[in-house]
Amino acid sequence: MGSTQNLPPSSSSSSSLPDASSPSLILTRPTAQELARTWSLTHPMWGPALSHDDYLKRELYLTTVPLAKDGGLSHWILTIASQPPDQRPILSSCESLRKMTISAPHADGAPLVDGVAHGIGSVFTDPQFRGRGYASRMMQELGRRLRRWQVANTADMPDDIVDASDDPSKLGPQSLFSVLYSDIGKTFYARSGWAPFESSHVAFPAVPGAASGLEPQNGYRGARARAVGYHELAELCSADEELLRAGLLARRAKGGKGGGKTCVALLPSLDQLLWHLMREDFMTKHIFGRTPAVKGAVYGDEVGRRVWAVWTRGYYGGLDKVEGNTLFILRFVVEGVGDEKAYLREGVRAIVQIAQAEAAEWRSQDVQMWNPDERVRGLIEASGLKYEYVERDKESITSLMWYGEGEGSTEELDWVANEKYGWC
Ligand SMILES: CC(C)(COP(=O)(O)OP(=O)(O)OC[C@H]1O[C@@H](n2cnc3c(N)ncnc32)[C@H](O)[C@@H]1OP(=O)(O)O)[C@@H](O)C(=O)NCCC(=O)NCCS
Repeated sequence: MGSTQNLPPSSSSSSSLPDASSPSLILTRPTAQELARTWSLTHPMWGPALSHDDYLKRELYLTTVPLAKDGGLSHWILTIASQPPDQRPILSSCESLRKMTISAPHADGAPLVDGVAHGIGSVFTDPQFRGRGYASRMMQELGRRLRRWQVANTADMPDDIVDASDDPSKLGPQSLFSVLYSDIGKTFYARSGWAPFESSHVAFPAVPGAASGLEPQNGYRGARARAVGYHELAELCSADEELLRAGLLARRAKGGKGGGKTCVALLPSLDQLLWHLMREDFMTKHIFGRTPAVKGAVYGDEVGRRVWAVWTRGYYGGLDKVEGNTLFILRFVVEGVGDEKAYLREGVRAIVQIAQAEAAEWRSQDVQMWNPDERVRGLIEASGLKYEYVERDKESITSLMWYGEGEGSTEELDWVANEKYGWC
């Protein structure tokens, strides 16, 4: 796309555009044509593993998958209010994805609250408009807008529904929080209200055939690890939700690391996982001509005593640059609380080995597990697996804006299960 195509007909150059603080700017929804224009602009950055046309097809396809479909995915642009659609410049753009969330408010005995949260992604400014404050302005508008966006249902709401009133009694229901995953460090989004949270991961190298010794039964005391496919995900997610609900209450009660804080988690629902897996299917179909059947692995058969993971393969490098490809563990679950350490350690080892073998088979450089808790880290350490612990300071910085009690402050917030499944 030529650079001037993103300028209004009335402007001969970007210097005649409004200041970022101008009241003439609005945050609004793009038309289909404008959306295609933003995708053309972002293709070189986020779609190098796909041709331009396939990237546009993927973005369109991603509006139809679970979580995103039926208006769950909202695209946003910052533009000039007075300019007609399709002829106005796109000064900055992004998208938000509606997600379900659970929270255990800090007050003793308060019941769990189910609510809506939003994930924000694809924040982008056309290179010719950068450094003028447009992305910052867009994020400030968006942070406010998402507070009440699609809280009751996923149906589209008119653009002009904004926080017209500062009187809390006049406000309807609101989202609990919004999250984003900054690839540009910790300060840019913090300035607009998204506070950085723990952003670490454990990386295991891809190892061809790492799981070959696991079959059929060299697990611990008869337990055995095996791959899981699509058909097993619903049951795993359902068991996970039950454990997570109990876990949030227990964590609040214990004080523990949270120390009496409000504990929140994005729900690792089936739809949430499918959003990643269908994206992966699109990518692998285009890159390899086939899709992977192995979506994760489970150790042990007894519900409540299993260790399991669900993962997705991310391709930014395509086949030419394996170092751009990673197998991300979306969710890692150790179900048992009192189980003996040797059993759990073997479970962790077996699951990771299957992931390592899959990573190698599917041309990924490594396996990454985000923010493993203390217990999982201890089990990894005990497993004897080779790994690297990374505290990220620039990429995928998990960041959160809080709309609940004590709005704005995240000091008293404990983000539980802050794993890759929440990314968008
Ligand atoms: C990041 C981006 C959206 C900022 O858009 P913008 O309209 O220029 O943003 P603003 O003018 O409001 O703010 C500019 C500030 O962004 C920050 N910023 C931009 N790129 C950055 C980077 N790669 N690393 C760290 N900070 C960065 C800087 O603080 C910069 O301030 P400066 O101009 O004084 O250096 C734009 O550079 C872009 O589209 N980059 C490519 C896509 C991308 O990385 N998106 C973010 C994904 S999380």
